[in-house]
Amino acid sequence: MNNDQLKNLEQIDKTNLFHPITNLKSHTSEDVLILDRGEGIYVYDKQGKRYLEGLAGLWCTSLGYGVKELAEAASEQMTKLGYASLFTSKSHEPAILLSEKLIEMSPYDKGKVFFGNSGSDANDTQLKLYTYYNNALGNTSKKKIISRIKGYHGVTVASASMTGLPAQHKLFDLPADGFFHIDTPHFYRGALENENEEQYVQRLTQNLDDLICKEGPETIAAMIAEPLMGAGGVIIPPTNYFPSIQKVLTKYSIPLIDDEVVCAFGRTGNVWGAETFDMKPSSITIAKALSSGYIPISAVIVPDELYDPIKDASGDIGIFGHGYTYSGHPVSCAVALKTLEIYKRDKIFDHVASVSDHFQSRVNKLNSFESVGEARGIGLICGIELVSNKSSKEGFTPMGSAGRVVAKICQDEGLIVRAIGDVIAMCPPLIITKNQIDEMFDIFELSLTKAEIKIL
Ligand SMILES: Cc1ncc(COP(=O)(O)O)c(C=O)c1O
Repeated sequence: MNNDQLKNLEQIDKTNLFHPITNLKSHTSEDVLILDRGEGIYVYDKQGKRYLEGLAGLWCTSLGYGVKELAEAASEQMTKLGYASLFTSKSHEPAILLSEKLIEMSPYDKGKVFFGNSGSDANDTQLKLYTYYNNALGNTSKKKIISRIKGYHGVTVASASMTGLPAQHKLFDLPADGFFHIDTPHFYRGALENENEEQYVQRLTQNLDDLICKEGPETIAAMIAEPLMGAGGVIIPPTNYFPSIQKVLTKYSIPLIDDEVVCAFGRTGNVWGAETFDMKPSSITIAKALSSGYIPISAVIVPDELYDPIKDASGDIGIFGHGYTYSGHPVSCAVALKTLEIYKRDKIFDHVASVSDHFQSRVNKLNSFESVGEARGIGLICGIELVSNKSSKEGFTPMGSAGRVVAKICQDEGLIVRAIGDVIAMCPPLIITKNQIDEMFDIFELSLTKAEIKIL
């Protein structure tokens, strides 16, 4: 595509397209990266420039780009049965087999899978399931939800209320009533002077206990948490964080919803982020890598203990009144089944385990940069927190200005990363090789060296 054609396409974009999660004002004057195709861990723009996709799209394209088997699974299913619903006791093979597979992979001996289209709608479903469940059992005041500052759970009204980030709240009149946000488990930023990690976790645990007591344990439906915070800035919790807060939740009979939208499948070196961080999920949300990002699909996995009272109550009402036209879309389910088959056949999770030490050693090396306050990560995900002063940990003003510079230089150098404020997130496709990890961090180091001249 020549320059004029590209400019024309960009103009049509700016005239007609309402972009999600975008600074709509600066979008009118900024260059737009228009991608065209992808292969392996690389994507190409309209002019053929190659980029290493350092964020796997939006933390989702775990098998990389151009996977023909996924395209064939979609094509075969579209040709065979392009749509069928799961309403009113109808069913189809792809949804049936996918639900069986997911229960097999889940921590539950017996459970059920409810399909949706996005992580956001799945977290709405979570809230509605607990509401229905509690009402069914007569616990009608057990409705409040606890989540965490910087947690990300989506953008629908309920899931945005769970999300603990200002951009998802401001001018939207959110969070809605009944949503409470507690501490981000980030030792680097949150610890008091002279506080060690154990004391820090203890303090956060006590804060949770205090909030529960203040609100009344009998009023709290659930707590929702990502094993590691992705969109909040790749925040890795201290080792003992989940076991410690889980004790408090257990003491007050408060379920823990595990939002695995970024961590499943395999991102942290185990199938589930919950395994890596020792969480005991009461129910699980998945999306993104369930189809390697190739087609929208999400799911809520619940154990039968949660499902059974819901089942009985729906019998009394006459119907369980929740579900989407595309819940368990056969094409999405067929692609997800193929994705899970490839994970197993190609031993993708073993591959992650085998390259993640190397990945993390390259992450650690970034700590020597003057502008890096904390380079953190686990498995094949990392967050590089930029600071203007390493010893005082001072950030940049305005917040996000340095992150934008670094991300732009990376892009110019052929690496796509995400700037979350002044944290640079990287989370490449899980198929990345050791050499490609070196390629990714070599570009990043070069970009950061160039950026430091501008930002420091
Ligand atoms: C942990 C987590 N939960 C939920 C969501 C929302 O998913 P979606 O964008 O598919 O609605 C995201 C999206 O990034 C996420 O990272």
